[in-house]
Amino acid sequence: MMARALRLAALGQYTAHPNPMVGCVLAKQGEIVGEGWHELAGEAHAEINALRMAGDAARGSTAYVTLEPCVHHGKTPPCVDALIDAGIAAVVVALEDPFRKVSGRGLRALADAGISVRKGLMRKSVEKQLEGFISRNVRGRPLLRVKIAASMDGCTAMADGQSQWITGPEARADVQHLRARSGAVMTGIGTVLADDPSLTVREASADTRGRQPLRVILDSKLRTPVSARMLTLPGATLIYCCSDNHGEALSAAGAEVVMLGDQEEGQVSLPLVLEDLASRGVNELLVEAGPTLAGKLLEAQLVDELVIYQAPHIMGSETRGMFRTPAWTGLADRRALRITDVRRVGRDLRITARVTDQD
Ligand SMILES: NC(=O)c1ccc[n+]([C@@H]2O[C@H](COP(=O)([O-])OP(=O)(O)OC[C@H]3O[C@@H](n4cnc5c(N)ncnc54)[C@H](OP(=O)(O)O)[C@@H]3O)[C@@H](O)[C@H]2O)c1
Ligand SMILES: [Zn+2]
Repeated sequence: MMARALRLAALGQYTAHPNPMVGCVLAKQGEIVGEGWHELAGEAHAEINALRMAGDAARGSTAYVTLEPCVHHGKTPPCVDALIDAGIAAVVVALEDPFRKVSGRGLRALADAGISVRKGLMRKSVEKQLEGFISRNVRGRPLLRVKIAASMDGCTAMADGQSQWITGPEARADVQHLRARSGAVMTGIGTVLADDPSLTVREASADTRGRQPLRVILDSKLRTPVSARMLTLPGATLIYCCSDNHGEALSAAGAEVVMLGDQEEGQVSLPLVLEDLASRGVNELLVEAGPTLAGKLLEAQLVDELVIYQAPHIMGSETRGMFRTPAWTGLADRRALRITDVRRVGRDLRITARVTDQD
């Protein structure tokens, strides 16, 4: 039942954020009488959708919920009250709410109402599914995933900056899913000037119900052209900078311009950017930048996951790599990764890896 609740939760992965994706199954004597998931932020939670489906059959059933039911009045009334009113006999949750202010309160309220409560079933799987939501609430920054398209020999652009397209159409369609699950997609001004990217989700690849992730440009000296393609597309564009040389013109063109400088570096401050994005509700942040920004993020130990699409080409030596770093001289300087998934996407390879502290 909990495994089913997890699969239901995943149906909300493109649409529930900034809320967590949550699934709920109501069962009686081994039969499912209702099920639901949180489909869209601002609309009914998983428990309410499951109760609606079950109707009177909810009475005396056990609710399997991936995340602790809410006790607070958000945009919708608390699910704890709805579960009590429906006469649920038992509640099994995988994970307590990671948001410290409410953690454990939902379970206590259910127990106080005489409902049998269990927690921890499939907790690890739900922690993985909600990693971004947990990161935002516990670390105060989004889960940060860097996506890179490279050749077999690790090149991401020719020396003159040409990089479109290194990977095939299937890999580029696969990236749409990474964008769709992210609250924001971030790049550096170097990529904006070289490629004028759109960074939008194509609805044909991933149904986001018309919502677009926030597009973010790191641009210390505010060199983003007012004619940048991103500013003309559906969804919002946010530019972080340290100077205000033509902020008004960019705002008039539809961008939100925010000064978040690091005085010493004379550059946009990465920790402050991540903090600000978390405060805007970004659970998962996808970075699609060139080697300069990717290298800085790696150096600052802010990268959680790498998704590398590797095309079956050799690009040679007059090229750019994946990460610009300070001169590393010994093998001891290298950064260790742990590969978590490898698969073929069309003619390309997709390698997913975590950045770790150990070799
Ligand atoms: N193959 C791929 O997956 C892929 C993906 C994207 C781009 N590309 C290629 O990458 C090339 C562009 O790479 P790039 O390295 O020049 O550009 P980039 O990494 O996209 O952007 C770097 C710029 O971001 C700005 N920035 C602002 N705050 C920063 C901070 N705290 N740390 C680091 N940078 C910060 C800096 O300019 P300021 O100092 O002016 O702010 C910096 O020069 C293009 O050829 C593009 O085609 C390849
Ligand atoms: Zn709820």
